[in-house]
Amino acid sequence: MAGAHPGLESLIPLRGGDLLSSADLSRDQTLALLQLAVDLKSGQRQIDLAGKVLGLIFTKASTRTRVSFSVAMARLGGQTLDLNPQVTQVGRGEPVADTARVLSRYVDALAIRTFAQDELADYAHWASIPVVNALTDLEHPCQALADYLTLAEAFGGNPHNLAGLTLAYVGDGNNVAHSLMLTGALLGVNVRVGCPVGFEPSREVLAQSQAIAGQNDCRVDLVHEPLAAARGAHALYTDVWASMGQEEEQAARERAFSGWCLDEALVAEADSRAIVLHCLPAHRGEEISAGAMEGPSSRIFDQAENRLHAQQALLAALLGGLG
Ligand code: CP
Ligand code: NVA
Repeated sequence: MAGAHPGLESLIPLRGGDLLSSADLSRDQTLALLQLAVDLKSGQRQIDLAGKVLGLIFTKASTRTRVSFSVAMARLGGQTLDLNPQVTQVGRGEPVADTARVLSRYVDALAIRTFAQDELADYAHWASIPVVNALTDLEHPCQALADYLTLAEAFGGNPHNLAGLTLAYVGDGNNVAHSLMLTGALLGVNVRVGCPVGFEPSREVLAQSQAIAGQNDCRVDLVHEPLAAARGAHALYTDVWASMGQEEEQAARERAFSGWCLDEALVAEADSRAIVLHCLPAHRGEEISAGAMEGPSSRIFDQAENRLHAQQALLAALLGGLG
Protein backbone atom coordinates (compact mmCIF):
# COMPACT_ATOMS: atom_id res chain seq x y z
CA MET A 1 0.00 0.00 0.00
CA ALA A 2 2.72 2.44 -0.94
CA GLY A 3 1.42 5.99 -0.74
CA ALA A 4 -1.71 4.88 1.05
CA HIS A 5 -3.55 7.35 3.22
CA PRO A 6 -2.58 6.84 6.88
CA GLY A 7 -5.07 4.49 8.49
CA LEU A 8 -5.75 2.47 5.36
CA GLU A 9 -3.77 -0.43 6.85
CA SER A 10 -6.63 -0.91 9.32
CA LEU A 11 -8.69 -2.19 6.36
CA ILE A 12 -6.38 -5.13 5.60
CA PRO A 13 -7.98 -7.43 8.25
CA LEU A 14 -11.37 -6.86 6.59
CA ARG A 15 -10.26 -8.93 3.59
CA GLY A 16 -12.45 -12.02 3.35
CA GLY A 17 -14.66 -10.85 6.25
CA ASP A 18 -18.34 -9.98 6.53
CA LEU A 19 -20.22 -6.74 7.16
CA LEU A 20 -23.40 -7.80 8.94
CA SER A 21 -23.64 -4.87 11.36
CA SER A 22 -22.23 -1.35 11.45
CA ALA A 23 -20.59 -2.43 14.71
CA ASP A 24 -18.51 -5.06 12.85
CA LEU A 25 -16.18 -2.20 11.90
CA SER A 26 -13.82 -0.51 14.34
CA ARG A 27 -13.59 3.27 14.61
CA ASP A 28 -10.35 3.25 12.54
CA GLN A 29 -11.87 0.99 9.89
CA THR A 30 -14.98 3.16 9.58
CA LEU A 31 -12.84 6.26 9.19
CA ALA A 32 -10.51 4.54 6.72
CA LEU A 33 -13.44 3.34 4.58
CA LEU A 34 -14.81 6.89 4.44
CA GLN A 35 -11.39 8.26 3.54
CA LEU A 36 -10.99 5.61 0.83
CA ALA A 37 -14.45 6.55 -0.50
CA VAL A 38 -13.36 10.20 -0.64
CA ASP A 39 -10.21 9.20 -2.56
CA LEU A 40 -12.13 6.96 -4.98
CA LYS A 41 -14.75 9.64 -5.60
CA SER A 42 -12.11 12.27 -6.36
CA GLY A 43 -10.19 9.89 -8.62
CA GLN A 44 -7.09 10.05 -6.39
CA ARG A 45 -7.13 6.30 -6.06
CA GLN A 46 -7.98 3.40 -8.36
CA ILE A 47 -8.84 -0.14 -7.32
CA ASP A 48 -8.80 -3.22 -9.56
CA LEU A 49 -11.28 -6.01 -8.83
CA ALA A 50 -11.06 -7.56 -12.32
CA GLY A 51 -12.47 -11.08 -12.36
CA LYS A 52 -14.33 -10.71 -9.06
CA VAL A 53 -18.05 -11.49 -8.98
CA LEU A 54 -20.53 -10.20 -6.38
CA GLY A 55 -23.79 -12.12 -6.02
CA LEU A 56 -26.92 -10.12 -5.13
CA ILE A 57 -29.58 -11.93 -3.09
CA PHE A 58 -32.44 -9.45 -2.64
CA THR A 59 -35.63 -10.67 -0.97
CA LYS A 60 -36.97 -7.09 -0.78
CA ALA A 61 -37.28 -4.34 -3.39
CA SER A 62 -34.34 -2.01 -4.02
CA THR A 63 -33.30 0.72 -6.43
CA ARG A 64 -30.24 2.39 -4.88
CA THR A 65 -28.58 -0.57 -3.17
CA ARG A 66 -28.95 -2.96 -6.08
CA VAL A 67 -27.86 -0.46 -8.73
CA SER A 68 -25.03 1.08 -6.70
CA PHE A 69 -23.55 -2.35 -5.93
CA SER A 70 -23.78 -3.33 -9.61
CA VAL A 71 -22.22 -0.11 -10.84
CA ALA A 72 -19.58 -0.17 -8.08
CA MET A 73 -18.43 -3.63 -9.20
CA ALA A 74 -18.48 -2.59 -12.87
CA ARG A 75 -16.37 0.49 -12.16
CA LEU A 76 -13.84 -1.62 -10.26
CA GLY A 77 -13.59 -4.06 -13.16
CA GLY A 78 -15.72 -6.82 -11.61
CA GLN A 79 -19.25 -8.05 -12.15
CA THR A 80 -22.48 -8.74 -10.30
CA LEU A 81 -24.86 -11.64 -10.66
CA ASP A 82 -28.53 -11.39 -9.81
CA LEU A 83 -29.36 -14.28 -7.50
CA ASN A 84 -32.87 -13.15 -6.67
CA PRO A 85 -34.65 -15.88 -4.68
CA GLN A 86 -37.41 -16.02 -7.31
CA VAL A 87 -34.95 -17.15 -9.98
CA THR A 88 -32.90 -19.56 -7.85
CA GLN A 89 -33.82 -22.67 -5.89
CA VAL A 90 -33.89 -20.51 -2.73
CA GLY A 91 -37.43 -19.49 -3.71
CA ARG A 92 -38.36 -23.20 -3.77
CA GLY A 93 -36.96 -23.82 -0.31
CA GLU A 94 -33.31 -24.88 -0.84
CA PRO A 95 -31.72 -24.38 2.59
CA VAL A 96 -29.39 -21.48 3.29
CA ALA A 97 -26.73 -23.93 4.48
CA ASP A 98 -26.60 -25.56 1.02
CA THR A 99 -27.09 -22.38 -1.02
CA ALA A 100 -24.37 -20.47 0.82
CA ARG A 101 -21.81 -23.27 0.42
CA VAL A 102 -22.58 -23.74 -3.27
CA LEU A 103 -22.50 -20.03 -4.07
CA SER A 104 -19.16 -19.74 -2.25
CA ARG A 105 -17.69 -22.02 -4.96
CA TYR A 106 -18.84 -19.66 -7.74
CA VAL A 107 -18.85 -16.04 -6.59
CA ASP A 108 -16.43 -13.94 -4.51
CA ALA A 109 -18.91 -12.16 -2.20
CA LEU A 110 -22.63 -11.89 -1.50
CA ALA A 111 -24.69 -8.76 -0.81
CA ILE A 112 -27.92 -9.84 0.86
CA ARG A 113 -31.13 -7.90 1.50
CA THR A 114 -33.65 -9.75 3.60
CA PHE A 115 -35.96 -9.47 6.62
CA ALA A 116 -34.35 -11.31 9.54
CA GLN A 117 -30.82 -10.50 10.68
CA ASP A 118 -30.60 -14.18 11.71
CA GLU A 119 -31.02 -15.27 8.09
CA LEU A 120 -28.16 -12.98 7.08
CA ALA A 121 -26.04 -14.40 9.90
CA ASP A 122 -26.91 -17.90 8.71
CA TYR A 123 -25.61 -17.10 5.21
CA ALA A 124 -22.44 -15.68 6.75
CA HIS A 125 -22.00 -18.79 8.89
CA TRP A 126 -22.21 -21.18 5.94
CA ALA A 127 -20.49 -19.07 3.28
CA SER A 128 -16.71 -19.04 2.96
CA ILE A 129 -16.81 -15.67 1.15
CA PRO A 130 -17.66 -12.15 2.42
CA VAL A 131 -21.33 -11.52 3.16
CA VAL A 132 -22.57 -7.90 3.19
CA ASN A 133 -25.76 -6.65 4.81
CA ALA A 134 -27.62 -4.84 2.03
CA LEU A 135 -30.45 -4.09 4.55
CA THR A 136 -32.24 -6.23 7.07
CA ASP A 137 -35.04 -5.33 9.46
CA LEU A 138 -32.32 -4.60 12.03
CA GLU A 139 -29.64 -2.61 10.17
CA HIS A 140 -28.53 -0.87 6.99
CA PRO A 141 -24.75 -0.48 7.41
CA CYS A 142 -23.92 0.43 3.78
CA GLN A 143 -26.43 3.27 3.98
CA ALA A 144 -24.80 4.70 7.12
CA LEU A 145 -21.36 4.77 5.46
CA ALA A 146 -22.78 6.85 2.58
CA ASP A 147 -24.65 9.08 5.03
CA TYR A 148 -21.59 10.01 7.06
CA LEU A 149 -19.57 10.46 3.87
CA THR A 150 -22.20 13.03 2.84
CA LEU A 151 -22.03 14.76 6.21
CA ALA A 152 -18.22 14.87 6.02
CA GLU A 153 -18.40 16.46 2.57
CA ALA A 154 -20.76 19.15 3.88
CA PHE A 155 -18.39 19.99 6.75
CA GLY A 156 -15.03 20.31 5.02
CA GLY A 157 -14.50 16.92 3.40
CA ASN A 158 -12.33 15.24 6.05
CA PRO A 159 -14.06 12.28 7.74
CA HIS A 160 -11.84 12.80 10.82
CA ASN A 161 -13.59 16.14 11.37
CA LEU A 162 -16.99 14.49 11.83
CA ALA A 163 -16.23 14.11 15.53
CA GLY A 164 -18.23 16.61 17.58
CA LEU A 165 -20.97 17.16 14.98
CA THR A 166 -24.59 16.28 15.85
CA LEU A 167 -26.93 14.27 13.63
CA ALA A 168 -30.64 14.34 14.51
CA TYR A 169 -32.68 11.41 13.25
CA VAL A 170 -36.38 12.19 13.40
CA GLY A 171 -38.87 9.36 12.87
CA ASP A 172 -39.14 5.61 13.26
CA GLY A 173 -36.43 3.89 15.32
CA ASN A 174 -35.77 1.43 12.50
CA ASN A 175 -32.93 -0.31 10.64
CA VAL A 176 -31.61 2.95 9.17
CA ALA A 177 -31.69 4.63 12.60
CA HIS A 178 -29.82 1.69 14.15
CA SER A 179 -26.92 1.86 11.71
CA LEU A 180 -26.77 5.66 11.99
CA MET A 181 -26.50 5.31 15.77
CA LEU A 182 -23.72 2.72 15.63
CA THR A 183 -21.65 4.30 12.85
CA GLY A 184 -22.17 7.78 14.32
CA ALA A 185 -20.95 6.59 17.71
CA LEU A 186 -17.87 5.05 16.07
CA LEU A 187 -17.08 8.34 14.34
CA GLY A 188 -17.55 10.54 17.43
CA VAL A 189 -20.77 12.06 16.05
CA ASN A 190 -23.51 12.86 18.57
CA VAL A 191 -26.66 11.10 17.42
CA ARG A 192 -30.00 12.35 18.69
CA VAL A 193 -32.92 10.08 17.86
CA GLY A 194 -36.33 11.74 18.08
CA CYS A 195 -39.33 9.43 17.80
CA PRO A 196 -42.89 9.10 19.12
CA VAL A 197 -43.34 6.92 22.21
CA GLY A 198 -43.62 3.30 21.09
CA PHE A 199 -41.37 3.73 18.02
CA GLU A 200 -38.00 3.81 19.76
CA PRO A 201 -34.92 2.04 18.38
CA SER A 202 -34.13 -1.39 19.80
CA ARG A 203 -33.00 -1.27 23.44
CA GLU A 204 -30.01 -3.47 22.61
CA VAL A 205 -28.80 -1.25 19.75
CA LEU A 206 -29.31 1.86 21.90
CA ALA A 207 -27.21 0.36 24.70
CA GLN A 208 -24.57 -0.87 22.23
CA SER A 209 -24.29 2.51 20.49
CA GLN A 210 -24.15 4.36 23.81
CA ALA A 211 -21.31 2.09 24.94
CA ILE A 212 -19.41 2.81 21.70
CA ALA A 213 -20.16 6.55 22.03
CA GLY A 214 -18.71 6.47 25.54
CA GLN A 215 -15.37 5.35 24.05
CA ASN A 216 -15.41 8.06 21.38
CA ASP A 217 -16.33 11.17 23.36
CA CYS A 218 -19.84 11.53 21.97
CA ARG A 219 -23.42 10.71 22.91
CA VAL A 220 -26.41 8.81 21.56
CA ASP A 221 -29.62 10.25 23.02
CA LEU A 222 -33.31 9.52 22.69
CA VAL A 223 -35.94 12.29 22.79
CA HIS A 224 -39.68 12.25 22.20
CA GLU A 225 -40.16 15.70 20.71
CA PRO A 226 -39.14 16.66 17.14
CA LEU A 227 -38.00 20.24 17.84
CA ALA A 228 -35.87 19.05 20.77
CA ALA A 229 -34.24 16.51 18.46
CA ALA A 230 -33.51 19.07 15.73
CA ARG A 231 -32.21 21.89 17.94
CA GLY A 232 -28.70 22.94 16.87
CA ALA A 233 -28.10 19.75 14.85
CA HIS A 234 -25.70 19.68 11.88
CA ALA A 235 -27.78 17.13 9.99
CA LEU A 236 -31.50 16.35 10.02
CA TYR A 237 -32.33 12.85 8.84
CA THR A 238 -35.54 10.95 8.37
CA ASP A 239 -36.84 7.72 6.81
CA VAL A 240 -40.25 6.27 5.99
CA TRP A 241 -42.68 5.63 8.85
CA ALA A 242 -43.56 2.13 7.56
CA SER A 243 -40.60 0.09 6.39
CA MET A 244 -40.69 -2.82 3.97
CA GLY A 245 -42.67 -5.58 5.65
CA GLN A 246 -44.80 -3.10 7.65
CA GLU A 247 -47.13 -2.10 4.80
CA GLU A 248 -50.28 -3.10 6.66
CA GLU A 249 -49.31 -0.76 9.52
CA GLN A 250 -49.15 2.26 7.18
CA ALA A 251 -52.42 3.92 8.27
CA ALA A 252 -51.82 3.38 11.99
CA ARG A 253 -48.28 4.69 11.65
CA GLU A 254 -49.47 7.81 9.78
CA ARG A 255 -51.62 8.59 12.82
CA ALA A 256 -48.87 7.83 15.34
CA PHE A 257 -46.31 9.96 13.48
CA SER A 258 -48.58 12.97 12.99
CA GLY A 259 -46.45 16.07 13.80
CA TRP A 260 -43.18 14.25 13.02
CA CYS A 261 -42.61 15.59 9.48
CA LEU A 262 -39.07 16.81 8.71
CA ASP A 263 -40.14 20.22 7.41
CA GLU A 264 -38.86 23.78 7.14
CA ALA A 265 -39.74 24.46 10.81
CA LEU A 266 -37.35 21.70 11.88
CA VAL A 267 -34.67 22.97 9.50
CA ALA A 268 -35.02 26.44 11.07
CA GLU A 269 -34.41 24.89 14.51
CA ALA A 270 -31.15 23.22 13.41
CA ASP A 271 -27.68 24.77 12.99
CA SER A 272 -27.62 27.33 10.15
CA ARG A 273 -25.24 25.04 8.18
CA ALA A 274 -27.38 21.93 8.75
CA ILE A 275 -27.98 19.53 5.90
CA VAL A 276 -31.13 17.47 5.26
CA LEU A 277 -30.72 13.76 4.60
CA HIS A 278 -33.07 10.89 3.69
CA CYS A 279 -32.02 7.40 2.64
CA LEU A 280 -34.88 7.26 0.05
CA PRO A 281 -37.38 6.23 -1.11
CA ALA A 282 -39.26 9.21 0.42
CA HIS A 283 -42.93 9.96 0.93
CA ARG A 284 -43.31 13.72 0.49
CA GLY A 285 -45.91 15.16 2.85
CA GLU A 286 -45.43 12.28 5.32
CA GLU A 287 -42.01 11.95 6.96
CA ILE A 288 -40.52 14.85 4.92
CA SER A 289 -41.99 17.97 3.34
CA ALA A 290 -41.40 18.67 -0.34
CA GLY A 291 -39.81 21.97 0.74
CA ALA A 292 -37.23 20.32 3.01
CA MET A 293 -36.50 17.67 0.42
CA GLU A 294 -35.91 20.08 -2.45
CA GLY A 295 -34.64 23.05 -0.41
CA PRO A 296 -31.11 24.51 -0.26
CA SER A 297 -30.13 22.40 2.76
CA SER A 298 -30.96 19.10 1.10
CA ARG A 299 -28.03 16.81 0.21
CA ILE A 300 -30.34 13.86 -0.43
CA PHE A 301 -29.24 13.17 -4.01
CA ASP A 302 -25.53 13.53 -3.15
CA GLN A 303 -26.25 11.05 -0.39
CA ALA A 304 -27.79 8.61 -2.89
CA GLU A 305 -24.74 9.00 -5.15
CA ASN A 306 -22.44 8.36 -2.21
CA ARG A 307 -23.81 4.84 -1.87
CA LEU A 308 -21.71 4.10 -4.94
CA HIS A 309 -18.47 5.55 -3.56
CA ALA A 310 -18.85 4.13 -0.06
CA GLN A 311 -19.61 0.65 -1.42
CA GLN A 312 -16.64 0.77 -3.79
CA ALA A 313 -14.46 1.37 -0.74
CA LEU A 314 -16.13 -1.48 1.15
CA LEU A 315 -15.82 -3.92 -1.77
CA ALA A 316 -12.17 -2.99 -2.22
CA ALA A 317 -11.50 -3.84 1.42
CA LEU A 318 -13.52 -7.08 1.56
CA LEU A 319 -12.32 -8.42 -1.80
CA GLY A 320 -8.64 -7.68 -1.33
CA GLY A 321 -8.43 -4.74 -3.70
CA LEU A 322 -5.99 -2.90 -1.42
CA GLY A 323 -3.05 -5.19 -2.16
N1 CP B 1 -31.75 3.64 0.51
C1 CP B 1 -31.91 2.42 -0.04
O1 CP B 1 -31.42 1.42 0.47
O2 CP B 1 -32.65 2.42 -1.17
P1 CP B 1 -33.14 1.13 -1.95
O3 CP B 1 -34.19 0.47 -1.09
O4 CP B 1 -33.70 1.66 -3.24
O5 CP B 1 -31.98 0.21 -2.17
N1 NVA C 1 -36.43 1.66 6.64
C1 NVA C 1 -36.63 1.47 5.23
C2 NVA C 1 -35.37 1.76 4.49
C3 NVA C 1 -35.45 1.60 3.00
C4 NVA C 1 -34.14 1.88 2.32
C5 NVA C 1 -37.07 0.04 4.99
O1 NVA C 1 -36.53 -0.88 5.62
O2 NVA C 1 -37.98 -0.18 4.17
